Amino acid sequence: MISVIIMDWIEFAVRWLHGITAIAWIGTSFYFIALDLGLKKNQALPNGVTGEEWQVHGGGFYHIQKYGIAPANLPKDLIWFKWESYATWLSGFALLAIVYYGGADLYLVDHEIAEITNNIAIAISIGSLGLGWVLYNLLCKSKLGNNSTLLLLILFCFLFFLSWFYTSIFSGRAAFLHLGAFTATIMTANVFFIIIPNQKIVVTDLKEGKVPDPIYGVIAKQRSTHNNYLTLPVIFFMLSNHYPLAFAAELNWAIAPLVFLLGVSIRHFFNTYHSQGRKLYWTCALSLLFFLIIIGLSAFRSPNLDLAKTKQDIPNIEFDNVAGLPEEVFDVVSARCSMCHSREPLWDGFIHPPKGFIIENEYDIIKQAKQIYIHSGISRSMPPNNISYMEDTERLMIQAWFENIEKEN
Ligand code: HEC
Repeated sequence: MISVIIMDWIEFAVRWLHGITAIAWIGTSFYFIALDLGLKKNQALPNGVTGEEWQVHGGGFYHIQKYGIAPANLPKDLIWFKWESYATWLSGFALLAIVYYGGADLYLVDHEIAEITNNIAIAISIGSLGLGWVLYNLLCKSKLGNNSTLLLLILFCFLFFLSWFYTSIFSGRAAFLHLGAFTATIMTANVFFIIIPNQKIVVTDLKEGKVPDPIYGVIAKQRSTHNNYLTLPVIFFMLSNHYPLAFAAELNWAIAPLVFLLGVSIRHFFNTYHSQGRKLYWTCALSLLFFLIIIGLSAFRSPNLDLAKTKQDIPNIEFDNVAGLPEEVFDVVSARCSMCHSREPLWDGFIHPPKGFIIENEYDIIKQAKQIYIHSGISRSMPPNNISYMEDTERLMIQAWFENIEKEN
């Protein structure tokens, strides 16, 4: 009991930390991108300054100047931005380990998707994050790296493959989380292995009175651009955890690549706006289109699961009875959900119903009909990894029940 409470608070603390560091990282990243794109370059500027901007914030005025390569005299105190990124990755990995490795049975492995043991799943998780960075880095360093459009196209194919791979090996929830973790690992590794070391070489050269090779800046800029475009998809994947329509949809493998396109097109809108003051309405239209396709894909169900047929196959169920709860639905929820989602859960290790979500008696079930429908009717997000063996016909019954209530209202 005590250990469950302590573990729960540790998880909360790490999640809090992860949220804070991610805000700090993405916040500084957004700030510097907008600043860089918005620098005024046309007026007379001091020697070595390539752009400047005036800003007003928090009761004061800021005058920011950017030195293309470096100022003639390097200041003694230089502020680096790197721990925001490292801390986000470290806290994120800790959270991945606590939730998905510690709770592999519930969250990581789904035996209806792949028959693998928890340890193998954890090894695949860690291995794929590491290997992904190695491949990505090789790709950027190869000849292809010189052609940024071709590089992005190949990277997209790689992410498409990965979406398929993760959704065929992990639970939908873990698959989406891993797509976010994979992308975020590349982003932090870009900072750790490329951007900061290159900047350090430049600083050392300057201190020694040498003229730094501009190639270091060019490489860092390429990685920094990738990071810029990858931020929004990462946030989507991290949040998607709470939305089974995304991660637990039958076509989740097709939704994931679209999330990358959606994030990139929204980011492109803002980049253009910050650099040229132009609003690209076509990117808004494109983003909306991607989002609508995602919504459409999330609603797809294989035709062999036929609702009308279920209604016939499951006799005696009073689908017309809107106010009362059909006994069959009550039985399904009791058998498949209530051991966890009751006021005093029977499931080992739970002292409270998960997320405070209770479906124990008839009133609870009627009140939570929509959640039950979303999580276990039209998607397979609950029971986690189908741990209580919910049957397909039972899911259809939940669907038929809720859709009937909707129709009557
Ligand atoms: C083995 C225990 C277990 C069983 C069985 C189970 N759940 Fe859950 N449920 C959980 C856990 C754990 C979470 C929290 C997931 C998370 O961290 O996001 C959860 C979350 C939920 C949520 C989201 C609540 C929220 O506010 O985020 C809903 C809805 C839900 N379950 C419905 C169901 C339904 C319907 C069933 C039966 C078909 C069911 N669950 C069976 C463990 C279980």
